[in-house]
Amino acid sequence: MTSTDTEEYAFYRVAPEEDDFRHAVIDGLSRRPRCIPPKYFYDQAGSHLFESICEQPEYYPTRTETALLKQYAHEIAAVAGSDCHLIEPGSGSCEKVRHLLDAMQPAAYLPLDISCEYLEKAAAGISEDYPWLDVHAVCTDITDEVSLPFIPEQADAVMFYPGSSIGNFDPEDARAFLACLASITGEGGGLLIGVDLKKDPAILDAAYNDAKGVTAAFNLNLLRRINRELAGDFDIETFAHHAFYNSDRGRVEMHLVSEREQTVRVDGHIFEFSAGDSIHTENSYKYTIEEFQTLAQQAGFTPCRVWSDREDLFSLHYLRTA
Ligand SMILES: C[S@@+](CC[C@H](N)C(=O)[O-])C[C@H]1O[C@@H](n2cnc3c(N)ncnc32)[C@H](O)[C@@H]1O
Repeated sequence: MTSTDTEEYAFYRVAPEEDDFRHAVIDGLSRRPRCIPPKYFYDQAGSHLFESICEQPEYYPTRTETALLKQYAHEIAAVAGSDCHLIEPGSGSCEKVRHLLDAMQPAAYLPLDISCEYLEKAAAGISEDYPWLDVHAVCTDITDEVSLPFIPEQADAVMFYPGSSIGNFDPEDARAFLACLASITGEGGGLLIGVDLKKDPAILDAAYNDAKGVTAAFNLNLLRRINRELAGDFDIETFAHHAFYNSDRGRVEMHLVSEREQTVRVDGHIFEFSAGDSIHTENSYKYTIEEFQTLAQQAGFTPCRVWSDREDLFSLHYLRTA
């Protein structure tokens, strides 16, 4: 781990395994079905594109979750308690936490994200706007074992995991990841987590296929990243964004589909595509409130409060470590 202390905040970088991206891409394109984990969407460009997705009218999760945070910040603060160490895995732009900080008055805020430059800028913004807050940003892959050496032994830790990012894990992996969060928060800790709800598939299909094509650009940016960082020669124009709700699995799937037969080279490896062949790039599982509470209980949490909007689009859960 390397660390840089600026006057305003501390920044730590936990380097991923060397060749991590290269290995995931070569391995993922060699498998059938082909798949590349969604965490590789988030280079600088990918992080900015995700921010634009959040502004699209069809993309209801961000505005719905933000409205819940604004409306219930004081209730959330009451259950979470003040003076905690507030840890946000996958913090992105750190915009949502702004609705909690004044109400919660945490002792410290720890945003964690894989997108280093983007995290640095977001953490600096928080540090500037909340000068009373101790900020420790950690650039890391949250699916790797992460150590947080600056949480004092006796401090209460509260995790904030918004954006329904938990939906990117298959349920088995989600359970294991939640159990890992429970072990970090420990006794007396808690987790405030945003979870997208099951709903009319037409709403989901629209949200992941916005009219401006921002989600498509976000998905296709993965191929641009491969071309740039791994000497790839994907012809971006010949791949199409494909997103749909798979009701049997309870998830939205995103794919990149080859529109013609072609050969692609990545870092000296050759990959053949027929027309219609897909690379599976993301799942976003949707849950009912009860389904998610069961999953959380299996991971060692006790459901404490749930807030949702009138249309039952999105839910915000506060869970205590059992
Ligand atoms: C869907 S965005 C959500 C951003 C923000 N939390 C929100 O709710 O708007 C996912 C965020 O998690 C980060 N991320 C994805 N996979 C990650 C991983 N394995 N480790 C650390 N951060 C990750 C991305 O860089 C991105 O900022």
